[in-house]
Amino acid sequence: MLDFVIFAVTFLTVLLVAIIWLYPSSKKVTTIPGLDPSTSEDGNLSDIARAGSLHEFLMETHAQFGPITGFWWGQTYAVSIASPDLFKQHASVFDRPTELFKLFEPMIGPLSIQYANGADGRKRRQCYDRAFEHEKLHGYYETFQKVCCASNGVVKKWLDKGEQDHIPLSEDMFSFAIKSALFTLMGESFNDEKLVLSVKTAYDKAWGEMEHRLTDPIIPNEKSPRIKQFDEALKYIQNTVQKVVQHRKAHNAKEQGHLLIDAILEVSSSEEQVNSDTITYMVGAFHTTANLLTWCIYFLATHSDVQEKLLKELKKVLGDKNVVDDQTYGQLSYMNQVLNETLRCAVVAPWAARVQDFDTELGGHRIPKNTPVIHALGVVLHDEKFWPLPNKFDPDRFSVEQSKNRSSYTFSPFGFAGKRKCPGYKFSYLESAILLSTLIRKFKISLWEDQVVQPVYGLVTHPQEEIWIKVAKRQ
Ligand code: HEM
Repeated sequence: MLDFVIFAVTFLTVLLVAIIWLYPSSKKVTTIPGLDPSTSEDGNLSDIARAGSLHEFLMETHAQFGPITGFWWGQTYAVSIASPDLFKQHASVFDRPTELFKLFEPMIGPLSIQYANGADGRKRRQCYDRAFEHEKLHGYYETFQKVCCASNGVVKKWLDKGEQDHIPLSEDMFSFAIKSALFTLMGESFNDEKLVLSVKTAYDKAWGEMEHRLTDPIIPNEKSPRIKQFDEALKYIQNTVQKVVQHRKAHNAKEQGHLLIDAILEVSSSEEQVNSDTITYMVGAFHTTANLLTWCIYFLATHSDVQEKLLKELKKVLGDKNVVDDQTYGQLSYMNQVLNETLRCAVVAPWAARVQDFDTELGGHRIPKNTPVIHALGVVLHDEKFWPLPNKFDPDRFSVEQSKNRSSYTFSPFGFAGKRKCPGYKFSYLESAILLSTLIRKFKISLWEDQVVQPVYGLVTHPQEEIWIKVAKRQ
């Protein structure tokens, strides 16, 4: 009898340990509906990979479980929210969880603002945000215009093309976005076209490695050609940042205008932090705006009615003026609708995330402290309740009439929480509007047929392959 009792107790103990080990969700102290981990080691990471991306995984899990759901990011339990009401409840949270963005650390560095929380994060944001204030943006009009119409700019390049030429849309938008950001945020060192091109080449290599790791997490050893190429590219970017810093110090450049790079120098306590924050803002500025422009022109090329309506507005507002200025920019309301609908339809940046270091409540559920909470921005941007036929590109959704009863949280492509919304959002609208207002007035843009354009939803959504367009000069 005693033998049987010992056997039964041992068996039950082993069973209990096995259940806890195999199913960490049984330790879950929350009532949030969601997934159990598929494996004890990786949680639901394999489900995310199977879905194609975190955004596509969140689309599926929210469809299954509703506006609040939980899953396992490896060994970490994470929550995702996807409704204007839940977004509102999280509107004052500032801190960001590091786990979900760890992948980018080799490029942006551990001291990046991306990982800065609490007083340090707030102080840095306050200081850097000055580079994006109204008066500063005012000073960027001319630069954006210059970059787009320079002898090596996109307008000149397209003017030189025949109607049967294939134009690489994404490549041209990247080139414009990189030059615009480097000139405006880092200063005159980047008047040198060669330097801009070599930074672009190094940046493409370094970012290419980060993208590679999004789909294939196995990192080769440090002597492999892939890692060597990444290290060299990163070193080149870091050295360039330091040269720009030396230049600004040597020429007392601040007097010519306080730029983002000066703000970074003001609050940074080390060279490493200067590199980290400068590279973080480069990633923020290049990728997002270049993809916003790529998707926008793609939609205009495939919706000739929208392109003509935009042209009509541009002619009416700008008349004979060549350039957009402060006054005319404010009148380009259809342009704004087109950019908003692009951000919504293409889901340019699919998600953000926050964390709190104390237990909280969200949507009636307890959220244990230190649980990462994902803001599924893209899921809400494609929610049929707010956006009927969500895959349809229709800028009229943003007309005054159609927007008036919509909560602002239904459209948060730049995030919304804790005064930590994207710092570059106005910069991005302005830069895009200036380029588009020139391109659309000069060219009728269409797409080369027989292309399958597939979005890849990474940290930023980009087309899987280059999009090829053709342009016809307007009279
Ligand atoms: C289409 C354009 C853009 C989109 C869709 C976009 C989207 C976002 C989103 C969703 C976030 C996360 C916000 C949050 O955590 O709540 C973010 C953060 C950030 N963005 Fe953007 N962004 C864009 C353009 C830019 C530009 C032009 C810059 C720089 C000039 C920039 C720099 C940054 C930086 C540095 C952060 C992190 C800020 C922090 O840690 O506090 N972004 N962006």
